[in-house]
Formats: sequence, C-alpha cells, structure tokens
Amino acid sequence: MSAGASALEAAVERVLWDEAAIRRRVRELGAQISRDYQDLLGDALVENPPLAVGIFRGAIVFLADLMRAMPIPLECDYVQLYSYGKGSEAGEIQLLRDLGTPAQGRHILLVEDIVDTGQTLHFLCEHLEARGAASLKICALIDKKPRRRAKIPLDYVGFVLEEDAFVVGYGLDYAERYRNLPYVAVLKPEAIAS
Ligand code: PRP
Repeated sequence: MSAGASALEAAVERVLWDEAAIRRRVRELGAQISRDYQDLLGDALVENPPLAVGIFRGAIVFLADLMRAMPIPLECDYVQLYSYGKGSEAGEIQLLRDLGTPAQGRHILLVEDIVDTGQTLHFLCEHLEARGAASLKICALIDKKPRRRAKIPLDYVGFVLEEDAFVVGYGLDYAERYRNLPYVAVLKPEAIAS
C-alpha cells in the first residue's frame, strides 16, 4: 500500500458500513423508491419523471449510486449549501448553488448523505415547496439521530446512526478529506483537530 493510502486508512477507527453493505442497501432503496414512484405516478412518470436532487458535496457518491439503482425515467440535479456556525443555535444556511431545473410541478427526490440536526433539509424543503414542487420526498443514506433539532419526515433511510460519532467516507468528509473512502467509518479522535 502506498504511503498516501495507508495515511488515509490509518485515520479510521472502525468501519460502520462496508462497501458490500452499502451496495446492498442502495440497491434496495433504489428498487423501493422506483416502485413507489411507479405506483404514485403511473404513466405520468414518462412525461414528468422524478427529479433526483443531490445535496452536494456530501451526496455526490450516494446520488451517483442511487440513480443507477433506479430503473425508471429519472432526471438529476444538485444544490449546494453552506452552513455558518454548524451545529450551533445560530446556525445559518446559505444556498451556494440552486437547482438548474425549475422546481415548479416536479416530483423531487432529495438525496442526502447524512441528516444530523436536520437544519439543511428543513431549509431545503421550505425552499423547494415555495417554488411549487408537485411532491417532495427525502432519501437519506444515514439518519444520525442524537442531535436532531428540526423534525424532518424522512421517506427513505439507508442506515440509522444512534451514536453521536463523527463519520466519514462514501461522500462524507472531515475538513474536506475522506470523501473518497468507499465505506462509512468513524475517525480516530486523534485524526480530528480539537
Ligand atoms: C453535511 C451533510 C448534510 C448536512 C447535514 O453537509 O452532507 O448536508 O451536513 O447536517 P444537518 O442535518 O445538521 O444540517 P456539510 O454542511 O458538511 O457540507 P458538505 O455536504 O459539502 O460536506
């Protein structure tokens, strides 16, 4: 293993969900979501396909895999947000990149890597509903429960995280690193700057 690769993996304390577990769960989610849209929309699915919207950057990897697990007409887009004072009461969210597609009349599937306090999704749901989305569903890979503040109805969840652990990999970062790990893991405390 190269020095770079071992440095990346050396920061990992334990793997929570490995590549095989994620692949399996993403396939299940894709199949379930596809069935639900077929039931909901019927033939209208062809004229007005659902719009999968990734919340970047964290959802980049999940969106790419989930889309390929959905064998129905589908479009995709992304939004990007910036959170000031993350995790604090005063946390404020700014939209860095809005949808490139008008939300009016669309069936939107928000694709999120992790829901923590819920602030991000609370902000986005209000934003998209105000723009006249026909329906809004949320698919989160990880539902991290301990710090939830905003009550968000999650339609589809990959995995539940009951501990207040800092997780990285499969798109999730710490200081912009570790997004390229193919699994989701907890970082060693010494890898996290205090
Ligand atoms: C992370 C994650 C979610 C959000 C969840 O994004 O990707 O979008 O935090 O937190 P919340 O439920 O407390 O709002 P982050 O702001 O770190 O940006 P990133 O997607 O670029 O990593």
